[in-house]
Amino acid sequence: MTTERTLGIIKPDAVQKGIIGEIVNRIEGNELKLVGVKMLQLDKKRAEGFYAVHKAKPFFGPLVEFMSSGPVVVMALEGENAIAKWRDAMGPTDSTKASAGTIRGDYGTDIQCNAVHGSDGNDTAKFEVGYFFEPHEIVKYEWL
Ligand code: RTP
Ligand code: MG
Repeated sequence: MTTERTLGIIKPDAVQKGIIGEIVNRIEGNELKLVGVKMLQLDKKRAEGFYAVHKAKPFFGPLVEFMSSGPVVVMALEGENAIAKWRDAMGPTDSTKASAGTIRGDYGTDIQCNAVHGSDGNDTAKFEVGYFFEPHEIVKYEWL
């Protein structure tokens, strides 16, 4: 088992539904530790930079519009196999295909408005945590 860090985002749809707390419960309930948190309003440029890997995709424009349509909560999450664990807790991209009990299954709307983001691998996790957090903004503490 390896301790990993991953980036989670509570997307604008979930912030507007008032379920920040529900999502943080899922994080801590899955033994993922919040080691960095900020609430931000992304402008288009910052959203484009974050999702640059999807630049050529047909959904890129709408995705950037969506991600800059309201505040988001960006979170650095730490734990054993944090990357896969957080992706499992989120469920598949398309909320309509996500099972009950996953965050997207319980709170997402469709393939775009899907409540949360999670890094999809080691390299993306490093890039994405660094995109929003300076090293000194990541904290350290132990659970009792
Ligand atoms: P995320 O990066 O946000 O964690 O989501 P993901 O890995 O499950 O999905 P990805 O393929 O990386 O897509 C990024 C986000 O773009 C929006 N999307 N829209 N309309 C569409 O066909 C479509 N496909 C993807 C979603 O908000 C998705 O989470
Ligand atoms: Mg992705």
